[in-house]
Amino acid sequence: MEVIVHQDYESVGRAAARIVAQTLNSKPNAVLGLATGSTPLGLYQELVRMHREEGLDFSQVVTFNLDEYVGLTKNDPRSYYHFMRENLFRHVNISPQNIYVPSGTTDNYHAFCAWYERRIVESGGIDLQVLGIGSDGHIAFNEPSSSLGSRTRIKTLAKQTIEDNARFFDRLEDVPIYAITMGVGTILEARRILLLANGTKKAPAVAAAIEGPITSRITASALQMHADVTCLLDEAAASQLEMIEYYRWVQAKHPGAALRVSRPHFQRQIAHRMN
Ligand code: F6R
Repeated sequence: MEVIVHQDYESVGRAAARIVAQTLNSKPNAVLGLATGSTPLGLYQELVRMHREEGLDFSQVVTFNLDEYVGLTKNDPRSYYHFMRENLFRHVNISPQNIYVPSGTTDNYHAFCAWYERRIVESGGIDLQVLGIGSDGHIAFNEPSSSLGSRTRIKTLAKQTIEDNARFFDRLEDVPIYAITMGVGTILEARRILLLANGTKKAPAVAAAIEGPITSRITASALQMHADVTCLLDEAAASQLEMIEYYRWVQAKHPGAALRVSRPHFQRQIAHRMN
């Protein structure tokens, strides 16, 4: 895993946006996997800025969101669909027919989940998946004990997640108990994954995911099995990483590696060392 530590939340968002923009510039019809929540807000703000000021083009982009609360309609201000519309989609030139967010109100969840998985495959698979991480180590709503091979399905939310997400609702009792979510197996099929985290509250989960054993107790730890994961962390989220000095050293040796700009330089360096 590539671990990059940034000074603060704002720089994490900007760095993530540069990677997304680079993906879109090299593949204008890229398929993006998107997350909601507080973590990616900075990324979305920066993408909107890049669209307005630098012409970043979303006209051919296809997006699949990770999850949605069961029981909330698209127009419910607490739904993830609404979150995405307000924070990204309505500010960029994405085609509405290219936007996929799991439905929180389908009358056949089983069929919907199978269809969602099929749509991802038929769209060519996810090129770049953006993830946040829960304080219990979840990715999407794959709560502790989720199968690491799981596919899109309904999950019962953990009490900790319900408490963490209560800030978006008037009362704790209003937080839905169920969510429809991509599985860990679905996520691992993305070609590249960007894990974003900020704040001290995420530090234990981040350390367990990156440096702990691979376990369904921390579903983000399954990312260790993926060949192309970049973790963009702020100092606070990185504060419990034991190998932080190594990550900083790699970062100093290969600035820009996440943007894949220093690959030729990297190759030359290796060749030089081997001769
Ligand atoms: C949301 C999602 C979740 C969040 C996680 C962190 O689509 O998939 O896994 O990424 O719960 O949420 P925040 O960013 O609000 O701390």
